[in-house]
Amino acid sequence: MSQSSSVVAAVSGGKWCKGIYQGSGFGFAIGLVYNRAFYLRTHKALTKRSQGNVVIVFDQVQKSYQVGGRAIPALHPTSMTIDTGEVFGIVGHSGAGKSTLVRLINLLEPPTGGRILIDDENITGYNASELRAFRRKVGMIFQHFNLLSSKTVADNIAFPMKLAGIYSRTEIRDRVDELLKRVSLVDQANKYPSQLSGGQKQRVGIARALACRPTILLCDEATSALDPQTTQSVLKLLADINRELGLTIVLITHEMDVVRRVCDRVAVMDAGEVVEMGAVSDVFLHPKHPTTRDFVFESESIDHEEMQQDLQHAKGRILRLTFRGESTYTPLLGSVARESGVDFSILSGRIDHIKDTPYGQLTLSLVGGNLDTAMQAFEAADVHVEVLR
Ligand SMILES: Nc1ncnc2c1ncn2[C@@H]1O[C@H](COP(=O)(O)OP(=O)(O)O)[C@@H](O)[C@H]1O
Ligand SMILES: [Mg+2]
Repeated sequence: MSQSSSVVAAVSGGKWCKGIYQGSGFGFAIGLVYNRAFYLRTHKALTKRSQGNVVIVFDQVQKSYQVGGRAIPALHPTSMTIDTGEVFGIVGHSGAGKSTLVRLINLLEPPTGGRILIDDENITGYNASELRAFRRKVGMIFQHFNLLSSKTVADNIAFPMKLAGIYSRTEIRDRVDELLKRVSLVDQANKYPSQLSGGQKQRVGIARALACRPTILLCDEATSALDPQTTQSVLKLLADINRELGLTIVLITHEMDVVRRVCDRVAVMDAGEVVEMGAVSDVFLHPKHPTTRDFVFESESIDHEEMQQDLQHAKGRILRLTFRGESTYTPLLGSVARESGVDFSILSGRIDHIKDTPYGQLTLSLVGGNLDTAMQAFEAADVHVEVLR
């Protein structure tokens, strides 16, 4: 196997590989392993969805808790908007204020300042009956599922419909049957929560949250109690629901990897503040705030200090190239090397997906030739270039 193809094999598993690979005239197409038609199809759907209407507006919203007669701030004044039909991630360490923020969206907690608009209505002004109707529009799932242990799977799913008091028995039965199919639990309908696995319990939680046909689904650390494989299947279910039902999902997590897999946009929280917000591809590939960087490095299992030490051994200029979407398929390095006369060494590389969009990142050292020609060629090909040294 040639040196260049061994690099492709090493990075195609979605993990970082490290080490010095001498790039003697390699001309591989980073990401040939991905199916281009699949990318184009899903990319179109994504672009269309992100142009939706705003459904949630936070206008200088703040929240303090009264503790021992003192007001302790949990959310500093925050303004943001969430679009209809998007999956919006909120990532932050424990205590950052994520649950507080999401509990404001369904008024489980009242804000201590600012306005919250849902579908253009100021929800903080609702009376009791308006609030009941509003809560049916917003479903929620939790880290520890919060199922009723004395009720069967089917009865847990039916519970919010019965509580609402506006559905007939037939409507409830039909909806429960439909949801059992939706979350693949038809055979478990008469079991009790204690007889289910964690993943199955969360599926019941999802079906229950969907019972009254909400337009917004809030997920508070919904996969944090699950193993990696079950996490994947629950995230896939949430992505399917988002796509097929057009539901807006607000998803809280302390793992950037969860954001990378399913979210369109993300807000990063630190000590009660949103410190960075944007499209997941921008925030994930070019994190600006130190907290965001920590989350990204952690999710990619990068030891930042170790990486810096490795870079000291490399010669010449060091660049990080980011290929996104279509440019991921461009067989660029070989032609740039030929045109510019620059010799490359690959220091590290990764190919993976952000939601359905492929991306690649390569850290290279460049020696000799015409560096400016090489930089211009990368930029002309829509490859983002960051000079690390
Ligand atoms: N009901 C409450 N009463 C008092 N303090 C609270 C309450 N809920 C949360 N807090 C405090 O608010 C801060 C943010 O908490 P939370 O929103 O739960 O963070 P996260 O979900 O990011 O872990 C923490 O300091 C927490 O101790
Ligand atoms: Mg929390």
